[in-house]
Amino acid sequence: MGTTVNVVAGDITDFPTPALVVNLFQGVTQPGGATGAIDQALGGAINTLIADGEIKGKLGELTLLHTMGRIRASRVVVVGLGKSDGFDAGAVRRVSGDVARFLRRKGVGEFATIAHGAGIGGLDARESGQAIAEGTVLGLYKFDDYRSDGNRDGADGDETVERHADIATVTIVERNAGNVDALRSGVAVGTVLAEATTLARDLVNHPANVMTPTRMADAAREVATSAGLELDVIERDRMTQHGMGALLGVAQGSEEPPMLIVLTYRGDPENPDNNLGLVGKGITFDTGGISLKPAANMEAMKGDMAGGASVIAAMRAIGNLKPRINVTGLIAATENMPGGRAQRPGDVVTAMNGKTIEVINTDAEGRLVLADALCYARQLGLTRLVDVATLTGAMVVTLGKACTGIMGNSSELADSVRTAGDSSGERFWELPMLEDYRELINSDVADMKNTGGRQAGSITAAMLLREFAEDADWVHLDIAGTSTASSNKGHLVKGATGVPTRTLAQLAMNLAKGN
Ligand code: BES
Ligand code: MN
Ligand code: ZN
Repeated sequence: MGTTVNVVAGDITDFPTPALVVNLFQGVTQPGGATGAIDQALGGAINTLIADGEIKGKLGELTLLHTMGRIRASRVVVVGLGKSDGFDAGAVRRVSGDVARFLRRKGVGEFATIAHGAGIGGLDARESGQAIAEGTVLGLYKFDDYRSDGNRDGADGDETVERHADIATVTIVERNAGNVDALRSGVAVGTVLAEATTLARDLVNHPANVMTPTRMADAAREVATSAGLELDVIERDRMTQHGMGALLGVAQGSEEPPMLIVLTYRGDPENPDNNLGLVGKGITFDTGGISLKPAANMEAMKGDMAGGASVIAAMRAIGNLKPRINVTGLIAATENMPGGRAQRPGDVVTAMNGKTIEVINTDAEGRLVLADALCYARQLGLTRLVDVATLTGAMVVTLGKACTGIMGNSSELADSVRTAGDSSGERFWELPMLEDYRELINSDVADMKNTGGRQAGSITAAMLLREFAEDADWVHLDIAGTSTASSNKGHLVKGATGVPTRTLAQLAMNLAKGN
């Protein structure tokens, strides 16, 4: 069950709620605005805690006060917003997630908050509403589909499991009635983006015995129905007709039928050139194939379809938000298994565009399935492509979990992704696609080989993809590090992050405005 965020005009000192959230910037000794009004109503309690050094206003600092009947709210939480210098919507998203989880642990079923940052923080009301909705809905995300009912709630003190009752409603109380419409429209967009991200997280968190390529296609069908998109699912026979030898080579080791899932949103049907293709890696489990992975942590490879999940989810958000642009989502879904018919190291496969690839390592399967998905995207007439993939372990070594690597052939499109990331708070860093790296994937027998050795592993993977994007404007996002979080923090909870769902949807909206 999800959380609803709503907005009302009113006076927070007179608002009945189990908990009311106000805020403080670091270094402020005399709270003003809404926090000041609550402080006065509480007889200067907040001021005293500041003077005592107990409240400093550091980002994410949480202080709980019981009001003992002095105002209609039973509790007040003062949340630190950090330094006003460098404050942005990201800080609001972060504290909104922290506050919501804190109050859920306290057993609160609903709470009220002021619109963080819309006053002296300098955010406009729309941005503040969006960030609060995203931070709250995503910070409260739980995945408990596989806990039997008796295990769902009741405090167990485990911060990472957090089995507690849900928070049904969060109300933003705004004193200035003139801000209510802007807050509401921000909350509406933030809710669409957060709920899409929730879908992406769910798809990733499901185990691989459930989230098969067939189930991914089912999820795409539900999205198509609810968001008004067209759906085409290409199965083995049509893959063969199209000559998708690279995708079929990966799929041949598995009993699960592979699916190339195509979702289409037509937001500008008169202008086919106004297009964007989102291409996702959908390996529902990556054993490595015959080049088998070691057992330790192999369970994490249920998340090797996170790129595809973010594309399905972003397509739902785009269908809901209706930007004036045509967007096609393509998800190459298959398992990578070491079955008796599995491809072998040394095999040569031919992708849909006729280029040949020597398979040195069957564990470098993502680039193989994406090669054919990119070719098919080109055949559909898409001229601007963004692919998303948990592609390389090297990416986790390079950038860790703080940002997603971007590689591509268009610095303009890379800039557009980064700009979209500035709004979503999902971060990106571009890696150099120098020609020098291309020779690392030269093959003795084919047009290229599927691994480039130990050097620059994320870039050599992108060099292979580039051969299939051909003359389209294209960027590749390697989310191997950012697709999962190792602990709860702000809008992120341990497990799948849903990255880069919100950036992809924002990118479509920004590109639509540019037309
Ligand atoms: N899915 C993995 C990459 C990965 C690793 C994602 C860790 C998330 C966390 C990918 O298919 C893979 O196995 N890549 C190999 C490529 C190598 C064989 C060239 C890798 O990175 O080791
Ligand atoms: Mn692999
Ligand atoms: Zn993989």
